[in-house]
Amino acid sequence: MPDSTATEGRKVDHIRIVLGEDVAAKGVATGFAAYRLPHTALPELDLDEIDIRTTFLGKPVNAPLLISSMTGGAHVAEKINLALAEAAEQLGIAMGVGSQRAAVVDSRLASTYQVRRVAPRIPLLANLGAVQLNYSFGVDHCRRAVEMIEADALILHLNPLQEAVQPEGNVNFKGLLAKIEQVCRELPVPVVVKEVGNGISAHDARRLYEVGVRVIDVAGAGGTSWSEVEKFRQNNQQGVRVAGAFADWGIATTEAIRQVRAALPDVTLVGSGGVRSGVDVAKAIALGADMVGTAKPALIPAVDERGTEAVVEGLQAFIKELRVAMFCSGCADLATLRQLRLES
Ligand SMILES: Cc1cc2nc3c(=O)[nH]c(=O)nc-3n(C[C@H](O)[C@H](O)[C@H](O)COP(=O)(O)O)c2cc1C
Repeated sequence: MPDSTATEGRKVDHIRIVLGEDVAAKGVATGFAAYRLPHTALPELDLDEIDIRTTFLGKPVNAPLLISSMTGGAHVAEKINLALAEAAEQLGIAMGVGSQRAAVVDSRLASTYQVRRVAPRIPLLANLGAVQLNYSFGVDHCRRAVEMIEADALILHLNPLQEAVQPEGNVNFKGLLAKIEQVCRELPVPVVVKEVGNGISAHDARRLYEVGVRVIDVAGAGGTSWSEVEKFRQNNQQGVRVAGAFADWGIATTEAIRQVRAALPDVTLVGSGGVRSGVDVAKAIALGADMVGTAKPALIPAVDERGTEAVVEGLQAFIKELRVAMFCSGCADLATLRQLRLES
């Protein structure tokens, strides 16, 4: 089977499994529930004037929200990407596409990622696995991924656990930091490094910052677990057992956000991994995030027959919850929310 066909099958598998099976992390929580925003009965604010606008990758956004990288490379993925992109454009928020590895090699798949025509204004992020830099990919491939979708930045995702438990995983992670440094130096757009649900520690974030990475998405533990997803793609009992052993692996999302912000006051920090409401978004920002990403909650409405409209409705609820959380904790804008002390 040519690689692009295998990839197409894997992408379809991933969507089916994420939507149909219990793939949440187990035995580890994001930590959002352990924090409370301090309530004020006297906000002295008008809810309608709460300002949640910010900028991301040099572009204005109406809310500090990012639809996290998910898909592409298959027919069903194209429909999902278009629904997500149309919704992101309507709401004025950011979006990432899923890994473009196969499309970089086989240009027939490119159209499944190309959403710029329906989302001309939003910050749009390309995506490749950082480990591909050890499997014949170089700066040119990164450039192609960016140009393919007219992206504002390239996400290089780090997913050692997923690769390690995936039957066809790429497991040589040696020497990646130097290669990420080269991409940062030579790519004309910013490089974002993100995990996929196991978190980035302060130590790793510092190493990434030192080589030129200025945007980090912690994608912490407590939400969708990629070892749990891969558990459903195993063809033998040992594979199921090994993947299942890592259901609680990783750095909880809130812990990763706090750690990375404390270590790197100037990094642009995306908080994600198990963000399930606008109240979580508010807590992520109060803990140090500049932007907040969510994946599975956007995927569910994207496959609804109402498509774009359903995604808009779902994310509008997040936005409303964020605004109410800010109102009832006395925060007129995101700068004030960032200074708020959470109760735990
Ligand atoms: C169907 C699906 C496909 C994904 N594919 C990618 C990918 O190609 N690249 C990537 O960086 N992350 C990928 N992710 C990970 C998400 O971007 C996110 O980091 C993770 O799902 C945790 O967020 P959540 O708990 O809100 O789902 C994918 C997630 C889902 C649900």
